[in-house]
Amino acid sequence: MTSYKELGLVNTRDMFAKAVKGGYAIPAYNFNNMEQMQAIIMACVETKSPVILQVSKGARDYANINLLRNMAKGATEYAHELGCDIPIVLHLDHGDSFETCKDCIDNGFSSVMIDGSSLPYEENVALTKKVVEYAHKFDVTVEGELGVLAGIEDEVQAEASHYTQPSEVIDFVSKTGVDSLAISIGTSHGAFKFTAEQCTRNADGILVPPPLRFDILKEIEKKLPGFPIVLHGSSSVPQQYVKIINEYGGKLKDSVGIPEEQLREAAKSAVCKINIDSDGRLAMTAMIRKVLAEHPEVFDPRKYLGPAREALKQMYMHKNIDVLGSAGKA
Ligand code: G3H
Ligand code: 13P
Ligand code: ZN
Repeated sequence: MTSYKELGLVNTRDMFAKAVKGGYAIPAYNFNNMEQMQAIIMACVETKSPVILQVSKGARDYANINLLRNMAKGATEYAHELGCDIPIVLHLDHGDSFETCKDCIDNGFSSVMIDGSSLPYEENVALTKKVVEYAHKFDVTVEGELGVLAGIEDEVQAEASHYTQPSEVIDFVSKTGVDSLAISIGTSHGAFKFTAEQCTRNADGILVPPPLRFDILKEIEKKLPGFPIVLHGSSSVPQQYVKIINEYGGKLKDSVGIPEEQLREAAKSAVCKINIDSDGRLAMTAMIRKVLAEHPEVFDPRKYLGPAREALKQMYMHKNIDVLGSAGKA
């Protein structure tokens, strides 16, 4: 058993309380490898932002839980070395079972998500409660989910998305004891969130996705005043990266993401954690494709992973400063 406290990590409790009060959201960035982790820490230290390092089940399988735990420990020491001890959470993203959550808690994670959102309501309550009871023994915080997002949730394609029902939230939170709640108000997972048919076009012919359901968010906030709310599927799919990828041999279909202004708006409310994974994948892939296409003689991974890491860092800094409002809050 390794406690996250030995690794220099923190849970989400204080972080979320401050974010809800301060009208900003904590970035939850997914990582699978060293360059992504370095970019996240460099960006968050430079902008003095707290951060949630997020690990999916797929990332655990890819990178190995022992390595990930030690990378998170390394991240706290790296932040210190870079000159700012920002608060860092190691969080399991979309935990699919009690066993996965327990394994992460036993291996140094300071926060876990148990995603029972696709289960019948009472089963979601029972599973989430079981995870909370175990996690709280070790002061690990837990995120639950109500409502189903469109898109791919950790390798599982949601068959039908549906918005969170505000009528359920008080019952769910009080029965389970969760520390935060992920809700579905129109965000969606992955890089292909909305088809052209689901969008309208603005005066410049640019595709505009359906707006987030702020009315549902407001209703939830009314029912759970000050309670930490989480938004998944919040990548904005920056078109400059899609363009670079396709210019240099990629084949990404047209897609639009969640407009940054809407995320900024959400971050001012009880939304205090915003999950971003796909945008990092796009930034990294764009830069790797560009360098390899422009310099076909390159075969040293540092020559293309270095620029990819820098592009990632710039993107995360932009999110912290201009979108989430978390810069300066560490
Ligand atoms: O919500 C899902 C995350 O983007 C993780 O994706 O399972 O491919 O690592 P992954
Ligand atoms: P995106 O696919 O929009 O980046 O969402 C990531 C996410 O929700 C991770 O849990
Ligand atoms: Zn998610």
